[in-house]
Amino acid sequence: MKKISRHFAVYVTIILLLFAGTVFGQKSKASFSKKAQTSSEMNVFIEKLISKMTLEEKIGQMNQIAGDDAVTGPVNPSSSKGEDLRKGYIGSILNMDGAAKTRQLQKIVVEESRLGIPLIIGFDVIHGYKTIFPIPLAEAASWDLDIIQRSARIAATEASAVGICWTFAPMVDIARDARWGRIAEGAGEDPFYGAKVAKARVQGFQGNDLRSNTSIAACAKHFAGYGAAEGGLDYNSSDIPERTLREFYLPPFKAAAEAKAATFMNAFNNLNGIPATINELLVKQILKNEWNFKGFIVSDYNSIAELIAHGVAANKKDAAELAANAKCDMDMDSHSYRNELVNLVKEGKVSMAIINEAVKRILTVKYELGLFENPYKYCDETREKTALLKPESIAAARDGAKRSIVLLKNENQVLPLNKQIKNLAVIGPLADNRKEMLGCWFAKGDAKNVVTVLQGIKSAVSQNTTVYYAKGCEINAKKDENFSEALEIASKADAVVMVVGEPGEWTGEAHSLTDIGLPGNQLELIKAIHKTGKPMIVLLANGRPLTIEWLANNVPAIVETWFLGTEAGNAIADVLFGDYNPSGKLTVSFPYNVGQEPLYYNHQNSGRPKKGDQLDIYRINYMDSPTEALYPFGFGLSYTSFNYSNIKLDKPQMSMNDKIRVSVNITNTGKVAGEEVVQLYLHDVVATVSRPVKELKGFKKISLQPGEMKEVNFDISVEDLKYYNHKMKWSTDPGEFQLFIGGNSRDLLQTSFMLTEK
Ligand code: NOJ
Repeated sequence: MKKISRHFAVYVTIILLLFAGTVFGQKSKASFSKKAQTSSEMNVFIEKLISKMTLEEKIGQMNQIAGDDAVTGPVNPSSSKGEDLRKGYIGSILNMDGAAKTRQLQKIVVEESRLGIPLIIGFDVIHGYKTIFPIPLAEAASWDLDIIQRSARIAATEASAVGICWTFAPMVDIARDARWGRIAEGAGEDPFYGAKVAKARVQGFQGNDLRSNTSIAACAKHFAGYGAAEGGLDYNSSDIPERTLREFYLPPFKAAAEAKAATFMNAFNNLNGIPATINELLVKQILKNEWNFKGFIVSDYNSIAELIAHGVAANKKDAAELAANAKCDMDMDSHSYRNELVNLVKEGKVSMAIINEAVKRILTVKYELGLFENPYKYCDETREKTALLKPESIAAARDGAKRSIVLLKNENQVLPLNKQIKNLAVIGPLADNRKEMLGCWFAKGDAKNVVTVLQGIKSAVSQNTTVYYAKGCEINAKKDENFSEALEIASKADAVVMVVGEPGEWTGEAHSLTDIGLPGNQLELIKAIHKTGKPMIVLLANGRPLTIEWLANNVPAIVETWFLGTEAGNAIADVLFGDYNPSGKLTVSFPYNVGQEPLYYNHQNSGRPKKGDQLDIYRINYMDSPTEALYPFGFGLSYTSFNYSNIKLDKPQMSMNDKIRVSVNITNTGKVAGEEVVQLYLHDVVATVSRPVKELKGFKKISLQPGEMKEVNFDISVEDLKYYNHKMKWSTDPGEFQLFIGGNSRDLLQTSFMLTEK
């Protein structure tokens, strides 16, 4: 009975709309012809649509609710979901996937709601959907923007086949603190590099044309300052002076906006006392005015309601008012807009102009995705059957994974191992572990598809090799364990590969630590095996810098393998046995101990900088620890060696509208071919404000045959020399600039040039 009357109402509505002379076609009431539309046609379409919407329908577009295919935040049950869909009171759903399931929901809004405006369905596709790529921090270590873009492209191709229109990625937060679990989700500590990675990831997800079936909308998050959470404690406040904010935390967001990321997401944290969700400097001024961002901004999960706990709103009504007026366009699941905005508009506390602008932005993204043209473009069950885990995607995952590996130490060339090795012991709680290799936020990645390190090794070695395996201990067992089995196999082996690290989900949201050493008694296990005197290789599987000083001092070979995803084991074997010569470089500083955090290479000098290795009491020092990193930003070894020489400028000075060219020779001085990430850093010697000791301003990844030499050039323009001066003006001033080039942020050749007024 109910059904009949609902359908009756729908038919009546359609007839009325036709009478009213609507242009809507048959598929969806708001659909239009397939021919390419110009942006002015789009605007006409959207304005016309908005003019037909009731206030409740408009607010509906600003309302996102959670589905139940993933749980990524507090669950706020909505009793009226079905009804709301039919009324057009829901514009978006998150945490829902599957072609059939999403089609069903689209069908309800498209066919049963008055205006038939399609949903935009979002999901956290962070480093792959089904084919899982290295965690973002790992992949960033490749310094290879093409492979970074490619993994996002493949992730989008998979996600777009299962109903997902929109990913909540990339996370482009700069992270300087290894205690913060979400460091795993970003590109590390550097704004210049972070900006390049942000662009690559946005372009990967969105492809060349958002309307393509395999393109999904990207979301640059978390805007902003989330990575600066005090104490590395997730959700904590950030205090960031505006200069630091603009120079260090915002460049990746700006790059994402310039790359036309369709959406942004507010951060959870309060920034300088004002929660990011209602921070007008961030959203109104910087994002929407200065950067002229045309997409829409979604709150983080429940973050509008959380304004109450932040102590800036008394209740959800206050919270909705603040958020809407700060131009947060869509409410992620707090239901505050849904329940409060109508009254707020009626009371004149939120203007229709604000509502119309938000709705226009949301409808524009839906339009650009082609959802009005075909609301079911992502719900293609045929494509769903073939798009996931394609052999070429798995091959790309392996390729990306091997390029993400960073060789931290390789004394006496313990690595690569010979595939003919007779007896090899593989020990450790992560050695034969599938699930942890997926890391954090692995969407619908399935442990059963993961190649473990042990499997990878077994398929790489010769038939004459015996591979012994013992788990040794649990990842996080505190109790004394019996290492006897591990010791026994180590005693039979010609070399030992130990696979240790963190559980995959110790990083990611809400996973902050105060101790970033190897969990449990893994270090004790390593020490016990180390006593056997067997050549030892330690493979680290982790999502953040760990404190590994003992390993650095005692173990001959250390390989940072992060969490490499589906093909982890094969990629690791490629490196272990020299089929691939490692070329990854850290994009985060590895500290000696946690007390050094936050630790980052591009710090300022202080009035009492350290002089060499001297411990001078009246200089910047820890009494009990080095101040610098154990492994610095940009660091990573190769099975070959590179020599940097002959750093040269094309002239000793440049003027304000000029460029200067620096060149350097890099020679492969080892016996095998290898790739090197050549890094350029600058330092402004005298400025109106204190400048970082070094700032990355360029990099090039090159490959060299043994004995080969290449000249690498960088052009430096005045834009590279600018900073926010003492008056917060983006400018530069004449004087000396030091210039450094090398294979990491510490070991560098140096020269300098003068910037002149004319
Ligand atoms: C909260 C997280 O902070 C954000 O990154 C994520 O996209 C949303 N939850 C949705 O799952």
